[in-house]
Amino acid sequence: MNNEQINARLARFRPPHWAQDPVSAGFVRGVALEQNTLVISLALPFVDYDLETGLKALDADLCRLSGAQSVRWQLSHEVATLAPANEAQAVPGVRNIIAVSSGKGGVGKSTTAVNLALALSRLGARVGLLDADVYGPSIPMMLGVSDARPESDDGKTMAPVLAHGIKANSIGFLVGAGDATVWRGPMASKALAQILRETRWGDLDYLVVDLPPGTGDIQITIAQQVPTTGAWW
Ligand SMILES: Nc1ncnc2c1ncn2[C@@H]1O[C@H](COP(=O)(O)OP(=O)(O)O)[C@@H](O)[C@H]1O
Ligand SMILES: [Mg+2]
Repeated sequence: MNNEQINARLARFRPPHWAQDPVSAGFVRGVALEQNTLVISLALPFVDYDLETGLKALDADLCRLSGAQSVRWQLSHEVATLAPANEAQAVPGVRNIIAVSSGKGGVGKSTTAVNLALALSRLGARVGLLDADVYGPSIPMMLGVSDARPESDDGKTMAPVLAHGIKANSIGFLVGAGDATVWRGPMASKALAQILRETRWGDLDYLVVDLPPGTGDIQITIAQQVPTTGAWW
């Protein structure tokens, strides 16, 4: 088997949204012929939609170059932390925080946040979802776990609620969906900072944060106290 030719073929594979091909980017961790199967291991610093379809399209060329009868792709993820937008203290174990925000209510923020979280999880990432809409939490209902309660065995930290493979926490679990609307700014900000820092998220590749509408105290809290690596406005 000619590894150089195989590497050269892999180096010509570059999905349009990738900055580099997998060889230059150092994603290729192994190329080996095991009996009649060419086994290629890739470690990616991000999760990628429909990557396997793109890789499968290389199989015929790779079989021809290696003499193998089939190709087995072994994908693993080592999700990188992107540069945070501020100098807020990191949340231990959480690699990237993505805030979903909008000035208006009822435009689909929570729907986007839930779908983004589930899609990242489906692609193999470890995902959390924090409902920062302390005035009108909707994540417990949207995940179908309205009656769940985060458990605390030490009285200081809480275990998030597990739903559809993601870890979620929401003020709605703690106070009931209707009761949070009367909160004033500073109290709401404090509640959000607490729920972010006191949830035992464990190791997460992405924590998606669903924000309330507007540009009030919660947005200021997110901008100043939460080390976000991305935002959807
Ligand atoms: N892309 C969409 N197309 C149609 N309806 C949507 C879409 N996204 C959300 N909705 C609906 O709009 C309403 C508000 O969505 P929601 O995600 O709760 O908004 P927000 O969090 O911005 O207040 C919900 O009834 C939801 O089902
Ligand atoms: Mg919402």
